Amino acid sequence: MSEVKSLILAIESSCDETSVAVVENGEKILANIVASQIKSHRRFGGVVPEVASRHHVEQITLCIDDALAEAEIEPQDLSAVAVTYGPGLVGALLIGVSAAKAFAWAYDLPLIPVNHMAGHIYAAKYVQPLKFPLLALLVSGGHTELVYMVEDGSYEIIGETRDDAAGEAYDKVGRILDLPYPSGKALDELAHQGKDTYHFPRAMLQEDNLDFSFSGLKSAFINLVHNAQQREEMLIPEDLAASFQASVVDVLVGKTKKALASYPVKQLIIAGGVAANQGLRAGMTEMMAENYPEIELLIPPLRLCGDNAAMIGAAGYIEFKKQHLANMALNAKPSLTF
Ligand code: KG4
Ligand code: ZN
Repeated sequence: MSEVKSLILAIESSCDETSVAVVENGEKILANIVASQIKSHRRFGGVVPEVASRHHVEQITLCIDDALAEAEIEPQDLSAVAVTYGPGLVGALLIGVSAAKAFAWAYDLPLIPVNHMAGHIYAAKYVQPLKFPLLALLVSGGHTELVYMVEDGSYEIIGETRDDAAGEAYDKVGRILDLPYPSGKALDELAHQGKDTYHFPRAMLQEDNLDFSFSGLKSAFINLVHNAQQREEMLIPEDLAASFQASVVDVLVGKTKKALASYPVKQLIIAGGVAANQGLRAGMTEMMAENYPEIELLIPPLRLCGDNAAMIGAAGYIEFKKQHLANMALNAKPSLTF
């Protein structure tokens, strides 16, 4: 007898994207609606939590309707509802959690609580089935961490940033270069037109641990720009971007290489918004081909690197199989960790 088909409605609202997906057996995307609020936050140079919550309220029901219509699914066909309950902005998370609870209650469906960062890792499942043990480098606007997994749903953080996240550093440095928020993508593009001429430090790269630090790099960048302004010296933005990116990529690639030396794995996953970075994708591909050709490198396609609900559906399916369910007391957990 063939396995019963599991159809999960997944909801994501942890930051500045309202997203709803319908996912089959945690491996096939039937719909993945993403309503981005970036334009509303851009003029403030970052995400304004109150503005984010307001947009989520406006968008969430529309996104649910759109996802069901696109997937050609009736609520009665669904097996469960999965929702991001942390980490993220409390007000933003609460909109998704409330919508998921209401939907689950109305249609008498199981409710699956999902960790946003687990979602980022499981985005890779749409590329290839996961093979354990695996290592994941999670790089987003709020997180930079190396996660070791021995099986589905099991997460061990073996290294993490001691201050800023990689995406956060991109956004702060981009601001100095007058790039629109979030500046990761624009800075990445600028970097490809320049050269690493300013040689910023590679923080903690030589240290015997798997942790990261990006706040010193950010300060070095800001100091260089301010000093040049005071002396009325010209700097080359393309070279500044290339030098910054070279430092970030060297550290991310170097620490991942170090982690792989002590954690033998079958796969390496690069996930989160910064996994869209072309320099990082190229640097990691080269390092793996040179040092670990036997380890499979999985990097989700660009549309699944940023926040989206399809990844929540994939991670939620694992929790569903384990019957890790929530009840109507489910609350948002802004500082949720693994
Ligand atoms: O995972 P994500 O969409 O949201 C969080 O959970 O934080 O990541 C957003 C972050 C932002 O900091 C953005 O600047 C960064 O990902 N990002 C990039 C690129 N595309 C997005 N950073 C570097 N290069 C990129 N191409
Ligand atoms: Zn994210």
